[in-house]
Amino acid sequence: MTDHRKPIVIVGSITMDLVTRTPRIPAIGQTLIGTGFETTPGGKGANQAVAAARLGYPVAMVAKVGNDAYGPALLENLRRSGVDTAGMSQVPGSSGLAPMFVADDGLNAIVVVPGANGKMNRAAVDNHAALIRSAGMVLCQLEIPMDTLSYTLEFCARSGVPVMLDPAPAADLPSSVWEQVAWFTPNETEAAHYVGNESDAEQCAMRLLAKGLRGVVLKRGGEGAYVAVAGGHASWVEPFHVDAIDTVAAGDCFNGAFAVALLEGKDPWSAARFANAAAAICVTRKGAAASMPSRPDVDAFLAKYA
Ligand code: RIB
Repeated sequence: MTDHRKPIVIVGSITMDLVTRTPRIPAIGQTLIGTGFETTPGGKGANQAVAAARLGYPVAMVAKVGNDAYGPALLENLRRSGVDTAGMSQVPGSSGLAPMFVADDGLNAIVVVPGANGKMNRAAVDNHAALIRSAGMVLCQLEIPMDTLSYTLEFCARSGVPVMLDPAPAADLPSSVWEQVAWFTPNETEAAHYVGNESDAEQCAMRLLAKGLRGVVLKRGGEGAYVAVAGGHASWVEPFHVDAIDTVAAGDCFNGAFAVALLEGKDPWSAARFANAAAAICVTRKGAAASMPSRPDVDAFLAKYA
């Protein structure tokens, strides 16, 4: 049967995560004995793609991998998760890499080495213009060159395609961005980069909306999410309390699930509740893309907490 839903299209990053498990994040100059090491697919863009696809929504990704050993493995992981990879290409050199520490308390420290993600250029957008134009929503992050991000946002604005921008890792944005983004989804550290330290979620969201954004979701981990719409309602969406073992990609899981729920017609607060549930499951599992829950997982979780 033909799927008439407009796809989610991710224009973003894909990375192999090099994960060292450790009792705690080492201090500068300190050597610790680790408890494990694994290579596992990640990258904020790919994680968001897998999150949405595992929830049963049609998803396509526009991105680049390297011609190293990781490239084919990253592509295969996306395909296995149900992501359409027709918009992906392989370029000479290394794939994106993310060496990271994940501590026993679930917290992490990550360095992203762009590799092929740094080669995402305007041509990648032009070559897949029809796909991007067909999207119900485009999801972007800040792990590709800023010029390509700006070009993508301009293209989406001209084509009337809503964009969810995850401003991670935080970086200075061109002023045109604010009015081109439908949903802006920073965590607390990222929000501070744009509007200064403001622990009060209402104030923080108001400062962000004042820049011209239409919708803001402040992702506050264990505190839940604060959802605010320009000229409309703003309120907290409560978290689900679980024992976190690995918080890597929880924010990506939230974005993928939030986009799916919005496109399925949920209001933003109900969509954020759905996304909080997906992220709560994600932090109870190890890995980035590997930790994304399926639709039955989220439905069962919500039924349990109803
Ligand atoms: O958001 C988590 C992701 O950030 C990891 O998978 C890592 O690849 C970095 O991009």
